[in-house]
Amino acid sequence: MADTLTITDNRTGKSYEIDVTDETVRGLDLRQIKVEEDDFGLMVYDPGYTNTASCRSAITYIDGEAGVLQHRGYPIEELCEKSSYLEVAYLLVFGELPTGPQLERWVYDVTHHTFVHEDMKAFYRGFRHDAHPMGILLAGVGAMSTFYPDGKQIEDEEERYMAAIRLIAKMPTLAAFSYRHSLGLPYVYPDNDLGYAANFLAMMRRMTEIKYAPDERLAKALDVLFILHADHEQNCSTAAVRAVGSSQVDPYSAVAAGVAALYGPLHGGANEAVLRMLRRIEKVENVPDFLEGVKSREEKLMGFGHRVYKNYDPRARIIKKHVDEVLALTGDNPLLDIATELEKRALEDEYFTSRRLYPNVDYYSGLIYEALGIPSEMFTVIFAIPRTSGWIAQWMEMHGDSEQRIARPRQIYTGERDRTYVDVADREGPEKITGPPARRPVRARRGA
Ligand code: SDX
Repeated sequence: MADTLTITDNRTGKSYEIDVTDETVRGLDLRQIKVEEDDFGLMVYDPGYTNTASCRSAITYIDGEAGVLQHRGYPIEELCEKSSYLEVAYLLVFGELPTGPQLERWVYDVTHHTFVHEDMKAFYRGFRHDAHPMGILLAGVGAMSTFYPDGKQIEDEEERYMAAIRLIAKMPTLAAFSYRHSLGLPYVYPDNDLGYAANFLAMMRRMTEIKYAPDERLAKALDVLFILHADHEQNCSTAAVRAVGSSQVDPYSAVAAGVAALYGPLHGGANEAVLRMLRRIEKVENVPDFLEGVKSREEKLMGFGHRVYKNYDPRARIIKKHVDEVLALTGDNPLLDIATELEKRALEDEYFTSRRLYPNVDYYSGLIYEALGIPSEMFTVIFAIPRTSGWIAQWMEMHGDSEQRIARPRQIYTGERDRTYVDVADREGPEKITGPPARRPVRARRGA
């Protein structure tokens, strides 16, 4: 049997042989299917790209049915147990686990690029005290393109390496600065004696101590969370990095597009939304009513559901194990009881099981962040820190792929055609607009 499709166009009776490669057909191969010779030809209409492969990638493999996640072939469970975030970042970027000397140089380079330009502090001072940290981070990452203009030389291997190092190294600093800004606290500079996750906690939490060393077990839990959030194939924010990066803009601007996409409550913003949801449920007894609200579509069960996983998100399983460990150190959180009851009942309810809705990576992660003393506005920022290594790895892979071109989707045009311009005096409509001009009061509190 040939690896082809035979398509018969019933509008013309013509048949076409379309190649099948990697379980896909090339969209362009459909353009030959026309009624009239001068027709444009068939396109694929796929809102949200639910069934469209945009690239070839060797970075992350997900089997949504089986709940499998592997980075460069290594199961996420093994990486969480045996590796570190910086080692996984190296694996994502270069494709192989580093040797001892390679890991030593990589960690040295990241550690010695954690400072940001002093002018970034002046830039941050322009934000309101209650500016959302993701909005500040988004601006900060975009501003990096102005501090490192040589990043535009995207064909230069050394510049690409430096962009990877700078983005991975400075993201925790930019994130911690955005947190300290929101509290009106002085910025804490990186401490090169600390590991990656511990250094981030120190930049968030150090006050008058000369040296601040967080509990190693908590730093380890955060490092595992960083591994779990490092990459996830062509999710919304990675697709944004690839699309923006396809214009050959510098990597800092492309990663800023990823930060913007991750900010959304349907994507990285879900972890913050889960905590708000659990607080609104308030107590375990309210769980049944809340789930009825979800089923009547008055609510959304944040932290549940996934475009790819139609089974338990393997990351949620690992995080839940660490929640118990962290809370044993930091003290119980009544929200965990609500989350556990909510999960239990949802997984027993046909409404959710029939829609293949299971907990995803965001469902339990917020409980750990809260236990680490991190405010919910910072949760998505914490997601952005490790996802930076995935974004830059995908950006590098895209630029090394000779098949890739500038992203420019087509459309189905539904508007008017060939209309004649009418002078404003001759246009039909209300004689005058009544009522006050549109005005929205500036929020009195932090924007959600
Ligand atoms: C992340 O893509 C990635 O890999 C993302 C991510 C990563 O690492 O990068 O894994 C990180 O973004 C995880 C997802 C975090 N978001 C949330 O937890 C927000 C809540 N989840 C949903 O909004 C939703 O499940 C999505 C956005 C995650 C997935 O949406 P899809 O694939 O477009 O699914 P859908 O909206 O078509 O839902 C299918 C059905 C619908 O029911 P019907 O209209 O067919 O009756 O399931 C329902 C939806 O209404 N549904 C939910 C639901 N999610 C889907 N109903 C209630 N609560 C939900 N959370």
